[in-house]
Amino acid sequence: MTRPLTVALLGGGTVGAQVARLIDASAADLEQRVGAPIHLTAVAVQDTTKSRPGVPAGLITGDAMAVATSGVDIVVELMGGIEPARSLILAAMAAGSSVVTANKALLAADGATLHATAASHGVDLYFEASVAGAIPLLRPLRESLAGDRVIKVMGIVNGTTNFMLTKMDEEGADYDEVFAEADALGYLEADPRLDVDGLDAAAKAAILAELAFHTKVTLDDVYCEGISKVTSADISAAQQMGFVIKLLAVAEIKGDNEGVIVRVHPSMVPRDHPLASVRGAFNAVFIEAESAGQMMFYGRGAGGAPTASAVLGDVVAAARNRLTGGRSPGQSTYANLKPLPIGAAMTRYYVNLDVADRPGVLATIAAAFAENDVSIQVVRQDGHGDEAGLLVRTHLASDAALRSTVDRLRELETVKRVVGVMRVEGEAGV
Ligand code: NAP
Ligand code: HSE
Repeated sequence: MTRPLTVALLGGGTVGAQVARLIDASAADLEQRVGAPIHLTAVAVQDTTKSRPGVPAGLITGDAMAVATSGVDIVVELMGGIEPARSLILAAMAAGSSVVTANKALLAADGATLHATAASHGVDLYFEASVAGAIPLLRPLRESLAGDRVIKVMGIVNGTTNFMLTKMDEEGADYDEVFAEADALGYLEADPRLDVDGLDAAAKAAILAELAFHTKVTLDDVYCEGISKVTSADISAAQQMGFVIKLLAVAEIKGDNEGVIVRVHPSMVPRDHPLASVRGAFNAVFIEAESAGQMMFYGRGAGGAPTASAVLGDVVAAARNRLTGGRSPGQSTYANLKPLPIGAAMTRYYVNLDVADRPGVLATIAAAFAENDVSIQVVRQDGHGDEAGLLVRTHLASDAALRSTVDRLRELETVKRVVGVMRVEGEAGV
């Protein structure tokens, strides 16, 4: 009989409690799949008096460091945040434990230290649940696509903001209303800025970019704009043009390995693009690879049980390695690409202007685009006289040139107000 494999949890909250429940509920299946029983030995939490359905009371402890250094086969970190999570993970690895974590914030801030420590102690580091919850995404990038050349990764990786933008699009609700609804449903992070300012998506984008392009990417390398400035006017302009607004995480290689650009910002996406149909709190990630072509991964990006599913998949992988002597893939950053600023990205803009409606106005506006070498794709005028509005959509240009164009438009006497500016993604062609 093979010896039982021991697992300890750091954190018994939304995800941790579900992992504990599933280890118990699926014990017989897990034993068959791993080839040995999985024994949960401890669950470290902050408040040991809280009721935690599904978590055996006898396993609860307040001493996280004792759990981390107990020498179990696998330590599962589900506390979140940078510290003490980082110190606990490093201590667990030093004690010979493999580590499974869902901690995107820590991985995006200092994944290199975690990978290096895992390698130096000969233990595994798995983190499938850190991006897009239940969706198998990191393993396909790390393993299945390891023989291909990924060119672009583009996705909806924050369910809360997708829920909010879907409500604004489908129900005409404004930002404050949908924020209040997301709050009432418990969707927002304890610090809501992580969701609405795009920081959660930016951490996930950094993790995806590093895996996709085999180059080191941290949160500091990611350009980040949230959704708090998306207005009803933007939503209705998108609808008029046959687009929908999504908070996208985009990671791409510029030119022939000139560098990598990673960005998170609200984007207009054509309604017939696969990402446009991702509604509510769901996530989806679109990957383009040289040989494989285009593919999309879709599913639940958050929630206790869905995220626990991804965590348990990692626990099974780490447990199998313990028995066979296998190892998780290590950090792959050999490509050593330069992180480039957003200005270097080739993007398209939508610009919504309140203009004076008189002869020659369109010419002054077109000139502002031309001066910056930006080509206009579509112009649409609505209303006339004092109510005149122009919706302009551009062809691809450098983001820096598009920004200069908008700065120039703001200076024009013929432009009464720049009502909205947003990048457009997912359109075919130039
Ligand atoms: P959570 O509900 O806030 O749970 C955190 C757990 O960690 C709680 O049990 C808490 O104890 C414990 N904890 C926090 N600080 C501690 C400390 N210093 N010592 C001991 N225990 C401590 O968080 P969660 O939603 O489960 O998320 C866990 C991780 O999964 C995070 O990294 C998160 O980003 C990631 N994640 C979550 C989701 C999701 O849908 N929730 C999805 C993907 C990834 P108490 O219970 O006593 O407060
Ligand atoms: N706040 C995150 C989201 C949780 O809304 O997607 C999952 O990482």
